[in-house]
Amino acid sequence: MCGIFGYCSFLQEKDRKTICEILCNGLSRQEYRGYDSAGIGIDGDKPGEMIFFKEVGKVAGLRKKIAETTVNTSKTFLSQVSIAHTRWATHGPPSIVNCHPLRSDSQADFTVVHNGIVTNAAALRLVLQKRGYKFESETDTEAVAILTKYIYDSQPDKRMNFPELVKTVLKELEGSFAFVFKSSHYPNEVVTARRGSPLLIGVKTEKKLKVDFVDVEFATEGENKSMDALAPTSPGGLLAPPSTNLLRTQSRAFMSEDGMPQPIEFFVASDAAAIIEHTKRVLYLEDDDIAHIAEGELHIHRLRRTDGAQGSSQRTIETLELELAEIMKGKFDHFMQKEIYEQPESVVNTMRGRVNFDQNIITLGGLRAYLPIIRRGRRIVFCACGTSYHSAVATRAIFEELTEIPVSVELASDFLDRRTPIFRDDVCVFVSQSGETADTILAMKYCLERGALCMGVVNTVGSTISRDSHCGVHINAGPEIGVASTKAYTSQYIALLMIALQLSEDRISLTPRRNQIIQGLHALPGQIKTVLEGDKSLQELATGVLANQRSLLLMGRGYQYATCLEGALKIKEISYMHSEGILAGELKHGPLALIDENMPVIIIMTRDSFYPKVQSAFAQITARKAQPIVVCNADDDSIPAGCKTIRVPKTVDCLQGLLNIIPLQLLSYHLAVRNGFDVDFPRNLAKSVTTE
Ligand code: F6R
Repeated sequence: MCGIFGYCSFLQEKDRKTICEILCNGLSRQEYRGYDSAGIGIDGDKPGEMIFFKEVGKVAGLRKKIAETTVNTSKTFLSQVSIAHTRWATHGPPSIVNCHPLRSDSQADFTVVHNGIVTNAAALRLVLQKRGYKFESETDTEAVAILTKYIYDSQPDKRMNFPELVKTVLKELEGSFAFVFKSSHYPNEVVTARRGSPLLIGVKTEKKLKVDFVDVEFATEGENKSMDALAPTSPGGLLAPPSTNLLRTQSRAFMSEDGMPQPIEFFVASDAAAIIEHTKRVLYLEDDDIAHIAEGELHIHRLRRTDGAQGSSQRTIETLELELAEIMKGKFDHFMQKEIYEQPESVVNTMRGRVNFDQNIITLGGLRAYLPIIRRGRRIVFCACGTSYHSAVATRAIFEELTEIPVSVELASDFLDRRTPIFRDDVCVFVSQSGETADTILAMKYCLERGALCMGVVNTVGSTISRDSHCGVHINAGPEIGVASTKAYTSQYIALLMIALQLSEDRISLTPRRNQIIQGLHALPGQIKTVLEGDKSLQELATGVLANQRSLLLMGRGYQYATCLEGALKIKEISYMHSEGILAGELKHGPLALIDENMPVIIIMTRDSFYPKVQSAFAQITARKAQPIVVCNADDDSIPAGCKTIRVPKTVDCLQGLLNIIPLQLLSYHLAVRNGFDVDFPRNLAKSVTTE
């Protein structure tokens, strides 16, 4: 959670830009990551002076506050090094004092923005308070800012350079983070670092760069024990100043082709969406990278890790394939609405270049080398959270049918809590839109440590899961900005199906079934368009029979159980109406007690082999006077007259959930709009859950 942004320009004074606008735009594009408060920190006119603007709530509020200020923010500030943050509250409620950037002291010697959680912040706070440091906020981040000041002040000769100082700080931290540090002691410099939270740097320059990579400097110095002195348990250490036996590092800097210093701008962000309007050239930082931007140069240093792992020695400057239009709302009122409507194209993009519909062949390049290992696997473990978990539930049955390998589906948090036994011959599949969900990443690390083959099914290229897994499939749904996941679900579903189809390509007996599914996929985009045409009637349901209801049950079985879970999640998360997905087979084991004439129910009765069983669930609830809304196939004339229906085209059984979920997405959208809720930014949620 939280979006961080940093801007550093080394442009000639005449070319400099209005910083506040750049910072606010950078935050707006990352607002889906958290919208409890937003803040920026920029240099004032006097040397060492910093000006902060902070506001509770969304970036629009911050913009308004800036517009009302008496400070002339449209003038060009001398220094163009500035930082910004949009917050999803973890430590301390949303408030101005807890809003980032957080500073070390009233002079703002050190200022920090942070995404993640520092788990030993309370211990650090205690020790720093004992040493006389005052805290203004309840955040973990402030402890980092003050710790930085403490280490800086404790050096007798103040000889540490900025990255060395940050490196010393980071060695004392536990938990996950992406930081941007700024300091009045190091004007015009920024240090940014990550461990467990995403971070990338955009590079914008008119000239061609001489290199398209940045060398990484590995630390080889004797272990720096500086802050052991700070540990509460350390015997009598509190008075001992930190040692400063630090290594000076060097690495290759950015240079233009002619080797001359050049006008250049750097953008630091949690998400490429914040950078794309400025540049497509980006460099993704890895865990334990410390990037130092100063004098128009970028240097990357590594924090030595205790496990001895060093990581790769270069960071490539990649070119983003994202277009600005993809992260704009266009003609739609909300991103969620746009993303629901994008599904006829997004599912095509998931299949593009991978499905040959003429010959019924699937080719997933990212898996090719691993197919024999996967086929030999003892079992397949799907691991994910939220909507991504539901896509795994939705495809489990077809996966087992086609591969004949047992599949288990795990919620990442529970998987970790149980310390689930994992072995070398397990194949673990991590499904994640963002590729940055903390629980899923931790589950993946757990499986990597145990030697299992780890596969990522991810939307965000360059994300942690996409980088750290052995192999995988990008779902290519395009950027998903609405907090409620929609098009990612249908694309994950298809990606998982394609994996099952690819794995089963050598099983002759399954050819007719595989061909049927592949042809079903071919027809899918057109059928999704047909479902979207029914939007008006869903709006009517939301503003009519379902308006003002407090609860809504969704029932189905077989392939449609996942549809019920996902539909219920969509409804509860954006319309705040209680909603539950119920396996129709479980009805008589408890949920039936909820049913009476007042309980709204949606029952999914599209035709497949489970239809007779769902009919019996239908009979059980109508016998208790429920008046269910029935999701059924367009031509199904067996639904009793008088029942409200949501009609969808018929497709292959294992694909039907791809069509059935769309009316439920639309319904949740209209329920939220009808109630005047902020569809793209539901309360208390954030899109990318980068904390445990
Ligand atoms: C629901 C939703 C969340 C995410 C979950 C996992 O609409 O968006 O439940 O699905 O937080 O996120 P990813 O897929 O990014 O790992």
